[in-house]
Order: sequence, then structure tokens, then C-alpha cells
Amino acid sequence: MSDKRVLIFDTTLRDGEQAPGCSMNLEEKILLARQLARLGVDAIEAGFPIASQGDFEAVREIARQIEGPIICGLARTNDEDVDRAGEAVREAERARIHTFIATSEIHMRDKLRMTREQVLEEVGRAVKRARGLCADVEFSAEDATRSDWEFLVQVYARAINAGATTLNVPDTVGYTTPDEYVELIRFLRANLAAGDDVRFSVHCHDDLGLSVANSLAAIKAGVRQIECTVNGIGERAGNTSMEEVVMALKTRNEFFEGCDTGIVTKEIYSTSRMLSAVIGIQVPPNKAIVGDNAFAHEAGIHQHGVLSNKLTYEIMTPESVGRAETELVLGKHSGRHAFAERLKELGFDPEKLDFNGAFKRFKDLADSKKTIYNEDIEALVTDQLLQVEEHFKLENLSVVSGTFATPTATVEMLINGDERKIAKMGGGPIDAIFQAIEELTETKARLLRYQVNAVTAGIDAQAEVSVALEEEGLRVIGQAADTDVILASAKAYVHALNKLVQRKSAGVASLRGV
Ligand code: KIV
Ligand code: ZN
Repeated sequence: MSDKRVLIFDTTLRDGEQAPGCSMNLEEKILLARQLARLGVDAIEAGFPIASQGDFEAVREIARQIEGPIICGLARTNDEDVDRAGEAVREAERARIHTFIATSEIHMRDKLRMTREQVLEEVGRAVKRARGLCADVEFSAEDATRSDWEFLVQVYARAINAGATTLNVPDTVGYTTPDEYVELIRFLRANLAAGDDVRFSVHCHDDLGLSVANSLAAIKAGVRQIECTVNGIGERAGNTSMEEVVMALKTRNEFFEGCDTGIVTKEIYSTSRMLSAVIGIQVPPNKAIVGDNAFAHEAGIHQHGVLSNKLTYEIMTPESVGRAETELVLGKHSGRHAFAERLKELGFDPEKLDFNGAFKRFKDLADSKKTIYNEDIEALVTDQLLQVEEHFKLENLSVVSGTFATPTATVEMLINGDERKIAKMGGGPIDAIFQAIEELTETKARLLRYQVNAVTAGIDAQAEVSVALEEEGLRVIGQAADTDVILASAKAYVHALNKLVQRKSAGVASLRGV
């Protein structure tokens, strides 16, 4: 591998998933892991296997099913954690165990209650044990950027001697600055006898809004693995945003002395959208690379410039990150073969889908929408892939609303096979629908968030609705897409309720890490 190659270690399914409201179930994690493989990430940190049975199973299933990237499981330094991570990644084509322990004075004293000597012992023992289970072992000194530099040298030296192949230097609390990080990494590299087979890595949090800048600076200092997440999700202010680092390296390649990743940049936008659909959290419109406005030129002077030469205000093309709205040359008269081909182009395997169901939905969509874009097909298939068993089924819905009428919804549902119907009034049409569904399903769940997003531009765009519910500590996200925003809202609510039933019966309290 060239010394300019920067590995992308994606931790969306581990650190990203630990953020409030970002938890995912097994099917959702597998769906995203497939897309991450298609995106070309080098490693997927799939979870924290000791955290819960659900986390263990998610890592194991991803290890079994996903080919291409390294599949990694996180572990603290105790034997139980390391063994559990080893067991979870055992069947991966390429497996990694990532073990970590805190090294800053404040963490050692107030969290671990360990001396420096004890921490050093833990490092050596855990890395050695992990190496006994797996040839690829990463070690992280948690809170490295607030740790004593001389002590860090001792810590990483211990990890190298015990067989660590990647040394990660995390900015756990988002505290460092680019210049300081460069100095630290240069200091570590100069004082450690790390052979060519040992790679330096960084893992940054965005508490001061510096995670991407810090990660890029670290590359200048010789780091060749960046830990990051799609859309920058993660603990507190989030982690380094994958798409920003990748596109900075591509766009300013000369400045970064030829350093680049193996990311298939055309997959960036669909990956971002898939994550948003799964966790029900849209990126802000001004978010770099993937935000709605990232490539929109509103000011007249800008539009004028862009019309005469795109490069006046565009440093990269929307096409390069997969944002071109490629019109589907399929319409309502097109056949199954053409639809299957487009699904394959978009990264979905028609044989692993309910193809007939997807094709029927495509036809229905083509009846109600003039132009169908790739995003429409992605929304439709994601919607279908995220379906769960239907304890509650929406049969019919009618809504009256407007300036004269009191908003009223009549909802007919199958509740565990029994047909039931009710009419309810509300403050608005969505409130009326949700009240009706709430009464029919007798749910005690609390509505945390209701969000609508247009899948594409245009008056006939599909609405993508996500609904976050909570009951007794269990949080779920329901989502649905439809050209009818009212119907999409009802379907998303019912989807969330079905997921809640599924989670309760699986007895999975949460997939979030500890
Ligand atoms: O932020 C952090 O330090 C981590 C470690 C486990 C790498 O997430
Ligand atoms: Zn982290």
C-alpha cells in the first residue's frame, strides 16, 4: 500500500450509534454496513460487543455477512471484554480487535482509579491477549490529548511490544488544536520505535468544532488512519465527519502531498441519506458536502459566476459526491428487468429484496410522480428494507382539514388481525391522526420527534417522515416515504409502534454502548 494511502476507519455503528437518538437495531446496522462496504471504507467498527447481547450479535452478523472492509469490535482492557470482541469478529474475512484504556491523569485517577503502572500493565496484557485471538489489533490511549506526553510514549511502547498493529491517538473530549496535535504526533513518532507495519491513527471529537481540522493536520504529521463517522454523528458534538475529511483530501490533494483515501466518493451522498433515514436525523442544510444547500448558489452574483464558469464558486462538483439527480429513464411503462438493473446500479441486490413488492411500489410511485430520481428509488427500497413484522397495520385513512373544518382523522387499522376504526379531532391533521392511532393501538409511547423531509426537489416530491418514540427507556425511530405527506406520517408512526413491539419482545433494552 502506498505511503500516501489514508485508511478510513468508520465508527458510525459504534461511536456514532452511542449518540442520543442514534441507536440502531440489527437489521439497520447490517443495511448500513453493506452501504459502508460499497462506499469503500477500510474498516467498520461495528460495535462494542460486551455492551449488550444486541451489540454482540450486530458485530457478529456484520463480521459474517460483510465482505471487503476489516470488521472491528471494541473492548476495554479486561479479559472478558477482549474475549467477547474476539468472539464477535471471529468469522470476519478480515477481523480486528480495538482495545482502549484512558491515560490522562484525570481519567486514571477519577474514573479508573489506577496508577500509571497499573495502566501500563493493562495495556500490555490486553493487547497480548487480543493478539492471541486476532492478528490485527488496534490500541487507543483514551483522552490521549490531555495525557502526559512522556507517559504516552511508555503506553504506546507497551502496546507495540505486545503486538499492536495500529496506534490510535484519540482526542476524546475534542480538546486539542491542529498545531498542538501535529506536535504531539511528531513527538510520539520520534520517540517510539514503531516499525513500518505499525500505523498511527487519530479519532477526534467535535466539541470545539475542530475534529476535521485536527484529523487533517494529523495526516500532515504522518497519520495514516482517520476514525470518523458518516454525517459526523457521535458522542456529544459528534465525531470527525467522514465526508468532509475525504473530500478535503481529494479537493486539496496537492496540499496534502498526494494523500488520499480509497473512498468511492460517488457513494457519499446516498450513504449520508441512508443513515439519516435509519436514525431519523437529517443533516443541517448548511452541512458541508451533504447538506441541502452545500451546492446551492442563491446570490445573483454567484449564480452569474457559476453560469459562465462553474469553478468560480464550486471547488468540487455535486456529481463527485453522488448528488447529481440522474433522471431515471424508467417510467410507469418500464419493465422489471430495467428496474432490477437500476437497483443493482444503486447498490441493492434485487435477489435479497422483496423484488415484487419493490417493483409494485415503484409502479405506484411512477403513477403519482412525474420524474423519478435515484433518491426516490433509494427511499423506496430503504423504506421496504426497514419494515418489521406488522402487529399494527394501517388499512385506511381519511383526513379533513383546512380553514373551516376542525382537523379530523378517521383511521382504520388491523390490530393483531382485528379490524378497528376510530375518528379523532386534533390541533392539526397530523395531531388528529396520531391521536387516532394512539387510541387504536393503546400505546403508552411518548412522541419525541416528528420530522418531515422532501426526498427530492419538486412539488410532487416524496415526503420522508421520521417519528421517534420512547417507552420505558426504549427509543425507536419509525420512517416512511410517500408522495402524500399525511400518509407518510401515519405510516412512519405505525412503523415506529411496530418496531417498539419487536424490540420489547426481543427483550433488547438498547443497542447503545456502555
Ligand atoms: O473517543 C474515544 O476516545 C473513543 C475511544 C474508544 C477510541 O471513542
Ligand atoms: Zn470517541
